[in-house]
Amino acid sequence: MIEIGVLGSTGSVGTQVLDIVRKNKDKIKVKLLGASKPSETLLSQIEEFNPDYVYIENGNISKNLKNTQVFIGKESLDFLKDLKLDLFIIAIAGVKGIRPTYILLESNKKVATANKEAIICLGELEKGKYKNIIPIDSEHSAIFQVIDRRPLDDIRRIVLTASGGPFLNLPLEELKNVSIQQTLNHPRWSMGKKISVDSATLINKGFEVIEAHYLFDIPYEKIDVVIHPESIIHGMVEYIDGTVIANLSNPDMRIPISYAIFYPERKYINNNYLDFTKLKSLNFLSPDYEKFPLLKVAIECGKKAGVYPTTLTMADEVAVNLYLQGKIKFLDIYKIVIEVVESIKDYSINNVQDLLDFIDYVEKYSLSVAKKYGSS
Ligand SMILES: NC(=O)c1ccc[n+]([C@@H]2O[C@H](COP(=O)([O-])OP(=O)(O)OC[C@H]3O[C@@H](n4cnc5c(N)ncnc54)[C@H](OP(=O)(O)O)[C@@H]3O)[C@@H](O)[C@H]2O)c1
Repeated sequence: MIEIGVLGSTGSVGTQVLDIVRKNKDKIKVKLLGASKPSETLLSQIEEFNPDYVYIENGNISKNLKNTQVFIGKESLDFLKDLKLDLFIIAIAGVKGIRPTYILLESNKKVATANKEAIICLGELEKGKYKNIIPIDSEHSAIFQVIDRRPLDDIRRIVLTASGGPFLNLPLEELKNVSIQQTLNHPRWSMGKKISVDSATLINKGFEVIEAHYLFDIPYEKIDVVIHPESIIHGMVEYIDGTVIANLSNPDMRIPISYAIFYPERKYINNNYLDFTKLKSLNFLSPDYEKFPLLKVAIECGKKAGVYPTTLTMADEVAVNLYLQGKIKFLDIYKIVIEVVESIKDYSINNVQDLLDFIDYVEKYSLSVAKKYGSS
């Protein structure tokens, strides 16, 4: 029996993790569930999976749970250090994933993560620890599956594919009036709101470049991005002899999730197999950096390192939240992120508390910058 914990169990990735569990009840036992609040979804998951432990950041669970110990508030997260599970899955969205990721990495737990924001912000602080992580992000799972512990010296470059998002074919002038609904309407993937907006601005791909840099310990010069609207190829590795090995599948997050849980084994998921005779064509384009400048800004932040990846992540999180609340327009996300990144003051980050303090500072600063764009 594989004993797992799922932090962020109520979200898009988390619920798909639990789908995999349902199909493999004889092989996987959920010991820990975690979410931000005691929602109906979380309560019904507790009833269904009867975990030993539940974590919520806010609120209370009034229902009397006989077999379940409940931990409340981020200060309680240290309980993770003492849990002996086979795998901890982090499916939390945004920078709230930093603290649990840090605790789990520091206590040498086996982690599978979808939470790119934590990897980007922890960055240099946890360097050396990322080799204990199995990636869930489909592009990183693709690269992980191709590399599979082969020497990095043989690699000329890795290529992360991007669908191009909902606005791939929309002229730049029309981006100023796009609705939230249009932005969330991703052509290939059904995901949580934050990552859907990030996919529409393409900053998500920039985040993934930084994530790949840390997860695979590979220099930025060896990471390329290509737009591939069909989302059939998720990642490619080009070797020094000219061979390219690609990872292909229909877009379905349950594939990388299942691979992360059962690694190195593979298990049947559903009948969602590729029919090559129906794939009319696979297209590849260069990213349009004029229409999607945040992709370039993100890669530059990654290369500059220091405070930049964290500043980028938090400025974007603030701007995306304001956009989702209807307080700013789509192109204001660009303006806020660029202004915050260009004007951020240097800050010395030597430990995780410094990082969390810096994040609070960037949040406040980003909100003050956002006021210019009518966010208040
Ligand atoms: N969705 C995808 O297909 C996909 C693909 C690749 C990578 N990712 C990455 O995976 C992560 C999750 O994305 P998602 O789309 O699944 O997000 P989502 O649908 O918005 O779900 C977010 C989850 O995080 C939980 N959460 C938020 N704050 C928390 C906190 N402070 N403590 C504990 N749990 C907290 C939420 O709980 P509540 O419900 O209680 O708020 C929810 O369970 C993101 O980093 C994203 O970039 C997602």
